[in-house]
Amino acid sequence: MKSTCCCLALLLLEVCCSVYAEKRPNFVLIMVDDLGIGDLGCYGNKTLRTPNIDRLAKEGVRLTQHIAAAPLCTPSRAAFLTGRYPIRSGMAGLGRVGVFIISASSGGLPTEEVTFAKVAKQQGYHTALIGKWHLGLNCERNNDYCHHPSAHGFDHFYGIPMTNLRDCQPGHGSVFTNVQAHLPFKSLGVGVATVSLLHARGVVTMQRRLVLSLVVVAGAAAATFGLFVATFPFFNCFLMRNLEVVEQPYVSENLTQRMTEQAVGFMEKNSARPFLLFFSFIQVHTALFASAAFQRTSQHGIYGDAVQEVDWSVGQLMQTLARLKLRENTLVYLTSDQGAHLEEISVRGEVHRGSNGIYKAGKSTNWEGGIRVPGLLSWTGTLPAGKDIDEPTSNMDLFPTVVKLTRGTAPEERVIDGHDLMPLLQGKVEKSKHEFLFHYCNAYINAVRWHPPNSNSIWKVFFFSPNFYPENGTACMHTHACFCTEPYVTHHNPPLLFELSRDPSETRSLSPDTEPAFHSVLKEIRAALALHEESITPVQDQLALEHLLWKPWLQPCCSTLSRLCRCERDGEKDS
Ligand SMILES: *[C@@H]1O[C@H](CO)[C@@H](O)[C@H](O)[C@H]1NC(C)=O
Repeated sequence: MKSTCCCLALLLLEVCCSVYAEKRPNFVLIMVDDLGIGDLGCYGNKTLRTPNIDRLAKEGVRLTQHIAAAPLCTPSRAAFLTGRYPIRSGMAGLGRVGVFIISASSGGLPTEEVTFAKVAKQQGYHTALIGKWHLGLNCERNNDYCHHPSAHGFDHFYGIPMTNLRDCQPGHGSVFTNVQAHLPFKSLGVGVATVSLLHARGVVTMQRRLVLSLVVVAGAAAATFGLFVATFPFFNCFLMRNLEVVEQPYVSENLTQRMTEQAVGFMEKNSARPFLLFFSFIQVHTALFASAAFQRTSQHGIYGDAVQEVDWSVGQLMQTLARLKLRENTLVYLTSDQGAHLEEISVRGEVHRGSNGIYKAGKSTNWEGGIRVPGLLSWTGTLPAGKDIDEPTSNMDLFPTVVKLTRGTAPEERVIDGHDLMPLLQGKVEKSKHEFLFHYCNAYINAVRWHPPNSNSIWKVFFFSPNFYPENGTACMHTHACFCTEPYVTHHNPPLLFELSRDPSETRSLSPDTEPAFHSVLKEIRAALALHEESITPVQDQLALEHLLWKPWLQPCCSTLSRLCRCERDGEKDS
């Protein structure tokens, strides 16, 4: 009798423990916007204070070669959510523009794409996105929400569907100032003025009507552009709660505080059931802002203040997990969507950009500074503490990692480019499965990275590179971001070759004369690239002009167009 009882107890213990061990974790996935790898204490910054983020590294795993799938927000985020190169979902543009600029455009993450949130939701998780989205909104009407977070598996959304731009806040200037310099307004104006003058003097004779219509067309073009810039914040900078626009344009005052409060509330409400929180900071993209308590607290101006507020917010999320006793049951991840945006010098000449540490160039390029991002993972009791992993990993790896841990399945008919991170994180394997990584600039193969399985070398080949301005710099100051097409790039034949384990800052390109492996490395890379390209099925370009342009009937507006869509309803009711 006694032994049966004991056996029973043992059995129970075993059942309970195996159930416990297999309990599916919660997820808190944190993405900061435009944060540079050199901005964090745990990646070597000595003057910015990021103790809460540094603690994630101390208590978890620090990835030192974590690579964003693209150097721009829209494609990088699409890849992160789906585990696939953005070209596969049509989120890598063939044109010059690589991100969504206005809210009333029809492009976005296609509904057929499967995000980790969608899988988690199917597996019974409660899911929330708090913060920035930037993956589209509507398709045919201003309320079909075909690209909205709710169409991609998020039960709850509080944040901005677009991105924070300089234009979103008074006094920060406009990102379109540089664009304007590239539009033919000046020559158009001069041309029309010359024609009118010549006509008035009788030098040329033209029909009066023709001259008049020229003047009207030129005036209308200039006026439309002016109107676009003037109304930009009303039409594009708004805050939504689920499907409702609650603040238009949004006030950045206390925005991070409000988002943090929402996140804490979400975790409290769901502490007894599995949840997935994607916390997507609106900071530290320009227009920079920081709440009063953080202004002038850093040695690095408003940029540093914003980073320190982000760090505070991460601390709040972690404290909440600890208070709810969820640390041992939650996988926490922190990254940035790409490197720091080096062109960000404010209208007053202040430095509004972050630091990419020793890495070359920044956002909008595939030099390491554009794609090597922070990658921190912490899960008390399951992941080792204070461990560094130098193997190549990708922000696409979160998709299969989350899917596996929720015990869901990835759709089988499509290619998933990410790999489950858990074996690497837990030390069950030493090597990353990413032997090759393909670095796209919009829809174009810009560079390829090769980490041969039997060596420590990291080869990186560039087929073209952006033309910097000024030429001796590492940024494209004339266009505010580097572009991927002619005449903004230089093609290289033979390609440029670097070996990152010896030259992480990409300072010395190797030539066939100095590098005996030059030709064999190139051959391997070309073969892998051919296989990769074969695996790409052509899809609709979501960033094609017809999808990017303003479609008035798609314009979300919480009052009326004539009232410039203004409203301030956030906080009136809490859902
Ligand atoms: C720390 O970050 C600030 C702000 O981006 C930057 O100016 C500084 O150079 C960084 N320090 C290091 C050592 O990277």
